[in-house]
Amino acid sequence: MNIIRVKDYEEMSRQAAAHLYKRMTAGKRMTMGLATGATPERTYDLIIEKAEGDNQSFHHIHTFNLDEYAGLDSSDTNSYRYYMNQRFFNHIDLPKEQTHLPNGMAPDLEEECHRYEDELKQTGGLDVQLLGIGSNGHIGFNEPGTSFSSRTHVVALTKETREANARYFTSMNAVPKHAITMGIETIMEAKEIILLVSGEAKAEAYDRLLSGGVDEFFPASILKKHPNVLLIADEAASRTYAGRTFS
Ligand code: F6R
Repeated sequence: MNIIRVKDYEEMSRQAAAHLYKRMTAGKRMTMGLATGATPERTYDLIIEKAEGDNQSFHHIHTFNLDEYAGLDSSDTNSYRYYMNQRFFNHIDLPKEQTHLPNGMAPDLEEECHRYEDELKQTGGLDVQLLGIGSNGHIGFNEPGTSFSSRTHVVALTKETREANARYFTSMNAVPKHAITMGIETIMEAKEIILLVSGEAKAEAYDRLLSGGVDEFFPASILKKHPNVLLIADEAASRTYAGRTFS
């Protein structure tokens, strides 16, 4: 794992955007795995700014998001499709039909998981995957206890994750109870992974990731077995590590 510690969220986002932009403009056809949440918001802004300045098109790119809530359609402001369109896809020159998210409205969610995996396989698999991390170590919506050999699947969201995401909904009751997520094995097949960790709320997760073992009860720990992970963490997230406090 290659670790870069940076001052703050802005610097983390700059490094992530620069790294991703380089991959995105290498000219080759590529498939990118994307994340939602607060962590990558600024990274997307910075990629948009750079692409606008360079008049860069991304017709050679396919994107696959990690996850989507069950029961929310694309016009729902809390769906991840809505988030991706608003924050990223609507502002770059990338054909919408090349942007993929699981369909949380599919009549048969299990079937949708297979379809998503097949679609990903047809594009040749993930070249680079962008990840955030949950305070309980989840990646995608793979909660603690998820098998490391899982593929795209339907999950029941934990109370902890529903509470963490409730800030976007009108009430806790409105937070979906299920979602579709890429599996851990699916994520691990990406050729390269960029993991962003920012803020004090992630400090415990950062510490456990680096100082703990590889354990299904801390899903992100599997990333230590991946040959090509770039971890970019800001000071607030990485101040405490293995009992030592850094300034
Ligand atoms: C988002 C996702 C999640 C988030 C994680 C951190 O698509 O799969 O695993 O990356 O919950 O969320 P934030 O960035 O909001 O702290």
